[in-house]
Amino acid sequence: MTLLLLAGTGEAKRIAWGLADTGRSVVASLAGVTRSPDPLPIPTRIGGFGGEAAFQQYLSDEGITAVVDATHPFADQITNRTARVCGALGLPYCQVLRPEWVAEEKDDWTEISAPHEVADLVPPDAVVFLGTGRQTLPEFANLEGRRVLARMIDAPMVPFPFEGGEFVIGRPPFDVKSEVALFRALGVTHLVVKNSGGKGGRPKLDAARQLELPVFLLDRPKAPNLGETATRVETVQGALEWVAAL
Ligand SMILES: NC(=O)c1ccc[n+]([C@@H]2O[C@H](COP(=O)([O-])OP(=O)(O)OC[C@H]3O[C@@H](n4cnc5c(N)ncnc54)[C@H](OP(=O)(O)O)[C@@H]3O)[C@@H](O)[C@H]2O)c1
Repeated sequence: MTLLLLAGTGEAKRIAWGLADTGRSVVASLAGVTRSPDPLPIPTRIGGFGGEAAFQQYLSDEGITAVVDATHPFADQITNRTARVCGALGLPYCQVLRPEWVAEEKDDWTEISAPHEVADLVPPDAVVFLGTGRQTLPEFANLEGRRVLARMIDAPMVPFPFEGGEFVIGRPPFDVKSEVALFRALGVTHLVVKNSGGKGGRPKLDAARQLELPVFLLDRPKAPNLGETATRVETVQGALEWVAAL
């Protein structure tokens, strides 16, 4: 049997390391959105599959018998499709979905359901830091004219999509101290993040708490309904146990 690990997160990296010496046939898949991804310790293919039919063909050609989907909680296209295809083919499927972040006493968090909501919630002189990634950036276009700082892992080849914006280049991991220093240096007044959950993205929220900055959290897309051959776990350990029990 060959296991397909849909990767692109810190959990996926740790699952790959956990599977590397098990003797199991496993292949990881990266979407190819990061220019120089950290290498994984297992065979890795890079790039989209080319749509649903091509994905099904890939599963058949490579003799894939189970899938661990450790993609990001906001990568809902790949997750919905994989859950559906595996369900139809009767392939065991495991989604790794970390718990959401929950506000604590000292946090000033507002949940939002779409990027365009931020514009009505911040004053004209706000300095808004977007930790929301590349894909949703155009959806913040009604912030045009405000100072908007969008952090990216790789320097984009295209100009900022609207007036007043600027890219901040930074490759994770980040820690609280460096996030506090960065927000101070840039004069950030408001932070926008996806409610991704997990440890990797957490330091920016802890930095916002220290600096008493208001935070807007984008709600997650709905996770797919899972059929009989599918399961959902919250942790790397849960995924490794699911694989071991296959
Ligand atoms: N969305 C986020 O906020 C976010 C944050 C951090 C990391 N990531 C990672 O970045 C990647 C892309 O995220 P996204 O939000 O653009 O995904 P998405 O919207 O759910 O998927 C878009 C397309 O990207 C391809 N794709 C996605 N993940 C893939 C994988 N692991 N291997 C091969 N192809 C993949 C598929 O293309 P085809 O149709 O051609 O097969 C899919 O249809 C994911 O692996 C995700 O884990 C996303």
